[in-house]
Amino acid sequence: MNRLDFGDDFVWGVATAAYQIEGASDIDGKGKSIWDEFTKKKGKIRNDHHADIACNFYYRYKEDIQLMKSMHIKNYRFSISWPRVLPNGIGAINEAGIAFYNNVINECLEQGITPWITLYHWDLPQVLENAGGWTNRAILDWFEEFASVCINNFGDRVKHWMVLNEPVAFTGAGYFFGKHAPGKWGLRYFLPAVHHATLSMGRIGRLIKELLPEAKVGSTFSHSPMEPISLKRRHINALRRADAIMNRLFIEPILGLGYPTEAVKALEGLKKYMLPGDEEALAFDFDFIGVQTYTREFIQFSLLMPYVWANIVEPKRRGVKKTTTMDWEVHPPSMHATLKRFHNYTNMPPIYITENGAAFEDHVADDRVNDEERVRYLEAHIEQVLRAKKDGMDIRGYFVWTLMDNFEWAEGYNPRFGLIHVDFDTQERIIKDSGRWYGEWLS
Ligand code: NOJ
Repeated sequence: MNRLDFGDDFVWGVATAAYQIEGASDIDGKGKSIWDEFTKKKGKIRNDHHADIACNFYYRYKEDIQLMKSMHIKNYRFSISWPRVLPNGIGAINEAGIAFYNNVINECLEQGITPWITLYHWDLPQVLENAGGWTNRAILDWFEEFASVCINNFGDRVKHWMVLNEPVAFTGAGYFFGKHAPGKWGLRYFLPAVHHATLSMGRIGRLIKELLPEAKVGSTFSHSPMEPISLKRRHINALRRADAIMNRLFIEPILGLGYPTEAVKALEGLKKYMLPGDEEALAFDFDFIGVQTYTREFIQFSLLMPYVWANIVEPKRRGVKKTTTMDWEVHPPSMHATLKRFHNYTNMPPIYITENGAAFEDHVADDRVNDEERVRYLEAHIEQVLRAKKDGMDIRGYFVWTLMDNFEWAEGYNPRFGLIHVDFDTQERIIKDSGRWYGEWLS
């Protein structure tokens, strides 16, 4: 396999998210996000970690962009912290926040790196959550205001935009089973959050197109191929429901197929939040779709349906000996299966893999991190991307999750996904062997 097999214009990059790396959580006028609050509650995050400082990217962005450059990385996907730009969620703009992202964008461009912006990667302003957050339909107006501020300030230089990052993750973990901020649980939070998040993709997509007709607009979706634990009918039925929620819930309405209500009865509850015109407003013709995939899942029947996360059979319980720090099975063919599934939808726009990567236990020895497992993971998954391209799928790019070790949400700093090792006491960075490998691949 050779990088040029992918074609000259194939996009290679790395991805990060604001809350996971920036730190400076209450500096220069930034407002609080739901993650600032959630991480301060005892017992919510492993080891009670928080991201007040994280990778300190707010102060170290120049060095980190230099590192990217030294690794020949030409595309950088990052997110904008809504409360850094609009501390009250709406209204007064924090000029220091705008200046920070302008600096990041300008520095990227000067170093020959194309910036790709994700508007929403989970750090909602806490003041908006106090007013109901994603369960309140007014989020559509709030989000439009935030997006307009970003488009007006950064749109002259940024040509690639993503509206949401993994909607099923933040609505599911945040509003269905309370594992992520804001820590709400139950269908009465989940269903309105789902509907408003889906509507927001079209609403913000249209806004970007209107204000920046030349921009390429997408949104990102998580996907894990699923297998039933056995062929018994009840497991197959459980799989159908889990798959509908985890893999189909957001992409299908966007493509004009509506919510997968036929597979999950509880989704009928979405009707309660639908207003006239919503049905049509759900669909949106994105310029590209971001696909994020890491592993596959095995599903078994559980009495806790539609709490689908209860259906997942952990790898160790099905005989998988070696998993990543996230306890995810390494299964490269799932990359191909995921791409194929998206490709098979009618009217699927071009696909970018906007995240893929792995957390393993890394060890620093003599200023080196020999993370062979990560190299093998990346190589094997990239090979599956090539296989998909050779099968004729329209795949345009691949972003490694992630540039550097960072705050992995409910798991704190323990899972290390980075191409760069971060010592969180000293903030020292070391490019891991996987980072060198990626750099060579790109050079
Ligand atoms: C999904 C999310 O977008 C990202 O924030 C997270 O760190 C990675 N995948 C790994 O779990």
